[in-house]
Amino acid sequence: MFSGIQPTGNLHLGNYLGAIKNWVALQEKYRSIFCIVDMHAITVPQEPAELARNIRLTAATYIACGIDAEKNIIFPQSAVAGHAELGWILGCITPLGWLNRMTQFKEKAGEEREGASLGLYGYPALMAADILLYKTTHVPVGEDQKQHLELARDIAGAFNRQFGEFFPIPEPMITGPATRVMSLRDGLRKMSKSDESDYSRINLTDDADTIALKIQKAKSDSERDVTANLENRPEAANLLNIYAALTGNPANGNWRGFGDFKKDLAAVAISVIEPIAVEIRKLTKDTSYLDSILKKGSERANEIAEKNMKEIKKLVGFPVF
Ligand code: TYM
Repeated sequence: MFSGIQPTGNLHLGNYLGAIKNWVALQEKYRSIFCIVDMHAITVPQEPAELARNIRLTAATYIACGIDAEKNIIFPQSAVAGHAELGWILGCITPLGWLNRMTQFKEKAGEEREGASLGLYGYPALMAADILLYKTTHVPVGEDQKQHLELARDIAGAFNRQFGEFFPIPEPMITGPATRVMSLRDGLRKMSKSDESDYSRINLTDDADTIALKIQKAKSDSERDVTANLENRPEAANLLNIYAALTGNPANGNWRGFGDFKKDLAAVAISVIEPIAVEIRKLTKDTSYLDSILKKGSERANEIAEKNMKEIKKLVGFPVF
């Protein structure tokens, strides 16, 4: 199993419910690699000192959420050269037509399409390389990565047809009750690290007061029956979905309007996130511990990657010495 998150700031409840919580459950069953995709992060400008801090913060977050750093491999993408090498090879068999369909590029590039980087455009081929480099079979992600995973499957198929069967076709695992957590300010937009309003998301580093305040201020409506007619009430549906995902039970309490419901939701959110936040704060202080995890993880990832890269190079016709 392989998955990754971009180290571009605090991770949030969407990253937790859509990805990390599932990783924690699945780590028992699969040999797993959890990557910190710093090469993806630089597809948009990053301040170097902040990027370096965010890589450690992301490692600390994985561990604080319950990823076992001994059993699994946790490492930064840039420390394993195979990602860039395979990314190039796969980029050479990926038609522009396939890349042009990617909605995330269109969203991220915005109006300034001509100013977007080659890296941002080619990003899905690098993501395919991340997965295929380890001959991954399972990829647990949130809903928003579905299109990229379908492309990775197409690229794997294209490679196998051209050079011989080598890559397994990776299975996306988009599971759990909250595969798409929405913004607390707008139920039609996804919760995102890049939203300019911090009130749009709950960060995994937020303290109890901040979580309570963000939930209190979250957009809702004046419907007294919190759970009625959710199809046309995206904000209510999102809050109830978060409640259900955090408690593991369908949200069917007897609430008298949102004031009442939000108190329950805040209590549940705090009970899950506060211990994680405390642990993140503790771990980020111990940079030498985090660096030792990342170094060890890089070595273990490199071992697999180098072995596979040799096979891949042979198939492509590159000399292997
Ligand atoms: P990224 O860093 O945007 O998000 C990391 C993970 O969190 C999930 N996620 C969400 N899930 C539910 N609701 C949300 N609001 C929400 N926001 C984010 C994402 O689906 C993802 O699982 N391209 C990827 C990183 C990547 C990757 C990979 C993933 C690079 N290479 C190889 C898997 C395999 C990304 O930008 O995720």
